[in-house]
Parts: sequence; C-alpha cells; structure tokens
Amino acid sequence: MRLVLYATQTINGYIASETDETPWTSAAWKNYRKNAKQFKAIVIGRRTYQIMKRVNKFRKIGNPYVIVVSNFSPAESSNNLSYVKSPAEAMQLLKEMKFAKALVAGGGKLNGSFMKTKYIDEVWLDVDPVVFGTGIKLFYEDFFKAKLKLLGVKKLPPDTVQLRYKVVK
Ligand SMILES: NC(=O)c1ccc[n+]([C@@H]2O[C@H](COP(=O)([O-])OP(=O)(O)OC[C@H]3O[C@@H](n4cnc5c(N)ncnc54)[C@H](OP(=O)(O)O)[C@@H]3O)[C@@H](O)[C@H]2O)c1
Repeated sequence: MRLVLYATQTINGYIASETDETPWTSAAWKNYRKNAKQFKAIVIGRRTYQIMKRVNKFRKIGNPYVIVVSNFSPAESSNNLSYVKSPAEAMQLLKEMKFAKALVAGGGKLNGSFMKTKYIDEVWLDVDPVVFGTGIKLFYEDFFKAKLKLLGVKKLPPDTVQLRYKVVK
C-alpha cells in the first residue's frame, strides 16, 4: 500500500486561508485534478470532507472511495464512503479493501496526524505563487519530524511548481 500525501500550498506553507479560501491558479487546480484521478481511494479530515462535498469536488477527481477521519460517528452512509476514527483505522481499511495506493488529501489536522504516524510514503506539493499572512498550515503544529528525499521538480506553467518527495523511513 503506497500512501501519498498531496496538497496545493502557498509559497509560505498554507493550504487555505483562515476562512477556508483556496484561491489557486487554474494551472494548480488542473494539475491537482489530473494527479488525484490516479487514485481510487482518498483519506480526508472531517472538515475537508464537508467542504469538498458542498462544492461537489469528488466528481471532479473521478469519484474515489472516500475515507473520512473523525472522532465522531458517521453522520451518513454510502457505498463509496467510510468513517474511521484514526489514521491507523484508515490504513487498516485501505489494506482490507486491497487498494494498491491511496491519497491523503488534507486538511492540515489530518495531514499532521498522518505525518506523525510515519505511514506516508511520498509527499507531493504544488506550490502556487500566493502568500497568506495567516491560515491553515500544511501540517497542524505538533511534535514530529520527518526527513524527505527529493524525487522530482516539475514546472506547471506559468507560475506553479510541483515538488515530489519520498519520506525516509
Ligand atoms: N490546499 C489543499 O491541497 C487542501 C487540501 C485539503 C483541504 N484543504 C483546506 O484545509 C482546510 C481544512 O483543514 P483543517 O485542518 O481545518 O481540517 P481537516 O484536517 O480537514 O479536518 C479536521 C477534522 O478531521 C478529524 N481528524 C483529523 N485528524 C484526525 C485524527 N488523527 N483522529 C481523529 N479525527 C481526526 C477531526 O474531526 P472531528 O472534529 O469530526 O472529530 C478534525 O476536527 C480547509 O480550508 C480546506 O479547504 C486544502
């Protein structure tokens, strides 16, 4: 099971503004959709799930199987959706369902708790030419460290860059 954490961020490491704005360039959105479509399963935090559902984002990334991490019991049920209570439970479910790879796709709280567990194999970052003074960080602040190895850098014209890293385990 290969787990890829993928986000679009400002040049100073924010994945959204304080008010959940994500004003990415069209190049960044296009690239995000293209890459996300390669995955048949996506793991997201409860807040991100609510936002993505509201703007009907799942269809745009190919309707993957959605695993929502939340401390609370499911508010709904569907064939293509599961709620779990931790990254460990998400991993167990992905293995049981025999997904070869899955996307960990935010937000900051979920990303941070996954980085802490060491389950993440790769980190993909699309860095858009935007700065927020404050906002939601790629990783919510917590006590953890990780070392990464650069796998590649790709320019997404006109102004965006994709960085791909492997997590050293
Ligand atoms: N730029 C990007 O690529 C990108 C991608 C995704 C999201 N975003 C943005 O990120 C923002 C949301 O991020 P966020 O940090 O506020 O919220 P989030 O990570 O999406 O969701 C937080 C919630 O998820 C649950 N959760 C997360 N980790 C958990 C864990 N280890 N165990 C149990 N439950 C866990 C909790 O839900 P309960 O409260 O239900 O217990 C927590 O309150 C939005 O603005 C969204 O648009 C940006």
